[in-house]
Amino acid sequence: MIPSGPSNGMPRHVAIIMDGNGRWASQRGKPRSWGHRQGVEALRRTVRAAGDLGIEVLTLYSFSSENWSRPEAEVRFLLELLRRFIRTDVADLHKNNVRIMMIGGREGLDPGILSMMEEAESLTRDNTAMKLVIAFNYGSRQELTRAVQAIARKVAEGKIQPVDITPTVISNHLDTGGLPDPDLLIRTGGEQRLSNYLLWQCAYTEFVFIPEYWPDFDAALLSRSIQEYRERDRRYGGIKAQTA
Ligand code: IPE
Ligand code: IPE
Ligand code: MG
Repeated sequence: MIPSGPSNGMPRHVAIIMDGNGRWASQRGKPRSWGHRQGVEALRRTVRAAGDLGIEVLTLYSFSSENWSRPEAEVRFLLELLRRFIRTDVADLHKNNVRIMMIGGREGLDPGILSMMEEAESLTRDNTAMKLVIAFNYGSRQELTRAVQAIARKVAEGKIQPVDITPTVISNHLDTGGLPDPDLLIRTGGEQRLSNYLLWQCAYTEFVFIPEYWPDFDAALLSRSIQEYRERDRRYGGIKAQTA
């Protein structure tokens, strides 16, 4: 296992936009639901591969705040897939010392799904291998809005002063509070946009957009994306590191 961390050029935190399930299925003359089903297999492969590579945090975009606008049957199917994934995979992930965390809005969610999510989080809370962060009902603007509201409440209660609000305070009020920012963001399916994903957290993230659809994603595509990341020069507004 390659140890993670900036010292060996490996990303600590990889975030993925798992896109292209519907197009993958259409290409094969199948319903979109078939693509989503195969997408879960790709998700399983990716979690295993990321663990093998020693990735510290893997954040997967599974359902956006905007995905509720899809036809009701598709939304229902996606929720059922999440429910099934939690039911069948959490025990194994726990055995592998994976910590499960959920980000996204929780208000108004189906109470059944919510309690499954919370149980998975509390069961795996003390696990020390990879953190698997599932973005469900997630939208970055909504997340930032909740954070601003929480900070504003503290100001109104006199707990903090406006001058105390720093970028770190804002980061800590996001759903991802306490996690390192993503080093690498991978989007499958060919689109080159963030679709309301981790807008604040991706200030200095390296983006890798690949044409392959999500159901085809595997360890080889993950490694290739990481290789591309390792060849990037992260300058953070500075200048290229001196090699001499
Ligand atoms: C990603 O695949 C899965 C979700 C957004 C839930 P899509 O369903 O967006 O597939 P395409 O992009 O329409 O092909
Ligand atoms: C982003 O994909 C959301 C997820 C992968 C869960 P979309 O398919 O919803 O994004 P757009 O609509 O192409 O921007
Ligand atoms: Mg899509």
